[in-house]
Amino acid sequence: MAAKDKGKIRVMKSKSDTSGNRNRTFQTAVDIPAATRTAMIALLNQALADTSDLYSQTKQAHWNVKGIHFYQLHLLFDELAALREGEADEIAERATELGGYATGTVRMAAASSRLPEMPTDIDNGVDYVQALVERYGIHANNARAAIDTSDEAGDADTADLFTEISRQLDKDLWFLQAHVQVS
Ligand SMILES: [Fe+2]
Repeated sequence: MAAKDKGKIRVMKSKSDTSGNRNRTFQTAVDIPAATRTAMIALLNQALADTSDLYSQTKQAHWNVKGIHFYQLHLLFDELAALREGEADEIAERATELGGYATGTVRMAAASSRLPEMPTDIDNGVDYVQALVERYGIHANNARAAIDTSDEAGDADTADLFTEISRQLDKDLWFLQAHVQVS
C-alpha cells in the first residue's frame, strides 16, 4: 500500500443500498425516441422482477410438492420454471438492447415483484397448483397489459416480445388450471 493511501478504507456499498445508478442509460443506435426507450426499460425491468420471482416460486413448488401426484407435478413445475428462466433472459436483454441497465438480481426481483409470496404452510399438489394458478393468473394478465403499453408507446418489438410471452403464459396457466378447473 502506498504511504499516501494509508488509513484510507475502500468503502463497499452497503448490502441494503440498492439505489446505485440503476436508472442510467447508454447510447445506442436504436432510433426509438429516448422517452419511449426509458418507459420500455422500466416496463421490462418490472417484468423481469415478476418473472424472476415467478421462476423461483415455481421451483419452490417443484422442490416441496408432495402427494400421490408428486412426480407428475414435480416434472410439470420444472418445465414451467425453465420457461420463466428463458423469458427473464429475453426480457433483460431487451432492456439492455434499448440502452438500459437490467435490474436482475434476486434481491432486486424481491424488492420490485408484484406477485404475492408463495405460502410456506402448504404441501400437497392441489394446494401448490392453486397457489401457482393465482400467481400465473396475475402474471399472465400483467403480460397482456404490457403488450398494450408497449404497442401504444410505439415499440413494436417489445410488444412482440410480450405477445410471445403472454401466449406462453396463457398456455402454462391452462396447464395448471386444468388440474383444478370446474365449470
Ligand atoms: Fe429439480
